[in-house]
Amino acid sequence: MKFSANMTNRDGVLHIADVSVEDLRAQFGTPLYVYDEDLLRKTARDMATGFKNNGIQTKVLYASKAASFVALLKIMKEEGLGLDVVSEGELYTAHLAGYPMRDVVYHGNNKLDRELNMALDLDVGTIVLDNLSEAHRLSDICNKRNQEIDVILRINPGIDAHTHAYIQTAMSDSKFGAPLAGGVAEETLLTIRDLPGLRLRGVHCHIGSQIFSTDSLFKAATTVIEAMADWRTKGLALDLLDLGGGFGVYYTEGDEPFDIPTFLGALSDYVAAKTAEHGIALSALWVEPGRSLVNGSGITLYEVGDVKRLQDDVNYVFIDGGMGDNMRPALYDAQYEAAIVNRLNDPAEGLWRVAGKYCESGDVLIRDLPLPVPQTGDLLAISGTGAYTFSMFSEYNRLTRPAVVFVSRNGAREVVRRQSLEHLVSLDVLED
Ligand code: LLP
Repeated sequence: MKFSANMTNRDGVLHIADVSVEDLRAQFGTPLYVYDEDLLRKTARDMATGFKNNGIQTKVLYASKAASFVALLKIMKEEGLGLDVVSEGELYTAHLAGYPMRDVVYHGNNKLDRELNMALDLDVGTIVLDNLSEAHRLSDICNKRNQEIDVILRINPGIDAHTHAYIQTAMSDSKFGAPLAGGVAEETLLTIRDLPGLRLRGVHCHIGSQIFSTDSLFKAATTVIEAMADWRTKGLALDLLDLGGGFGVYYTEGDEPFDIPTFLGALSDYVAAKTAEHGIALSALWVEPGRSLVNGSGITLYEVGDVKRLQDDVNYVFIDGGMGDNMRPALYDAQYEAAIVNRLNDPAEGLWRVAGKYCESGDVLIRDLPLPVPQTGDLLAISGTGAYTFSMFSEYNRLTRPAVVFVSRNGAREVVRRQSLEHLVSLDVLED
C-alpha cells in the first residue's frame, strides 16, 4: 500500500497525521471511511492554483458525485472551488453546506421538473442541458416562473477516452449529450438560443473517467473549440467552455497519473491561445474533476473477522464490510492496494483474497494480496477509496453505512455518523 505524505508507520501501526488506526477503531468503530483532511485541502488548492487565469476566468468545480456530504463540500467551498451536482440530493447537500449557489452547476440527464424547479428556487448559477427535450421543459418552467437562467449544452465530441467502457461517456452512441456528429449539437444550440428563459452561455463536454492520456483531453478541447469557431461564423456567440473532469488517479502499480495542476496550467494556456486564434471571446473556462480531488485522501478501515484456507493456496480473509461500501471491484473489476495496518512490519506470507460479508461470490475487494497471515481482530486498510465508494453505497443485505471521519493535524472528527439499525429501518411502515 502506497503511503500518502501524512501517513507514517510508527512501530508497525499506521498513523495519519498523529492519529493511529487503533485509535480510530476504538473511537469510531469499523468499517470506517477515513479522509486525510490536510491532503484534501492541499489537493483542492493545488488544482485551483494550477488552473491559472489567462484573461479567461478559470474555475475548478468539484464533481460531487465522487463523494457528497456536508463536511466535504464545506472544504471544497472553503478552498474556493465551484460545485457540480447531478440530483436534488446532491443539490440539497450543497445547500446545507452553505455553498454559494452562483458557483453551483446542475448536471445530469433526465433532470426531473421537480429538480429543475428546485434549482431555480435555490438560484443555481448554471444548468447543463443534455438535450432539446430538456431545454423545452426548462424553458416552459422558466416562463411560468418568470425567471431566467444561464445554460450550457453538453455536447458529445465522439472521442475515445481510452478507459473502462462503463465509464466512457463520449462514444458516438453514448446516452450523454448532443452529438457533434450529424450537426445535432449545432441544431440543438440554435434552437436553445431562441428559447425564452434560457441564456445560452456555452458548451460542456466530458469524455470519461479515470483517463491517463492528456492527449485525449487536449483532443476533446480542440474538437470543441473548432466546433465553437464554426458556430461563431453562423452567429452563435458562446463565451463559456466546461471541459469536464475524468483525470486519472493512482490505485495500483501501473497506474501512471499525470500531474494535474501542471496539466491544468497547460490546458488553460492552450485554450486561451486556441480561442484567440479563432476569434472566440471566451470569458469562462471550467473543469469538473471528482475522483482526482478526493480519491487519494481516502482509505477504508476494516476489521478482520474469520480467516479461511482452501486447497490450491486459496486463502480468504474476511472483513466486516465489502461490496456494499465499495462496489467498484464488483462493478468494474477495479483494483486496489491494502495492508494489515496494525502490523505493518510483519512480512507477507502468501496471497490472500479479501472478501466481504455480502451474500455474493463477487463480494471480493482484492483477489491476490500479499499479507502476513491475517489474525482475527487485525485492521485491514484499503487505500485510494475516497471517490465513488461512500457515494455508491448499497444497503444490500441490510448492512449499515459506515461512518466517515476526517483526520488532520488537529485530530480526528466524525463528519458522517454511522448508520444505526433504527435508521436502516426508519422508512419501513411497521403498522399493518
Ligand atoms: N463531469 C461529468 C459530467 C461526469 O459525468 C463526471 C463523472 C465527472 C465530471 C467527474 O469525473 P471524475 O473526475 O470523477 O472522473 N462510478 C465510476 C465513475 C463514474 C463517473 C461518472 N461521471 C467509478 O467508480 O469509477
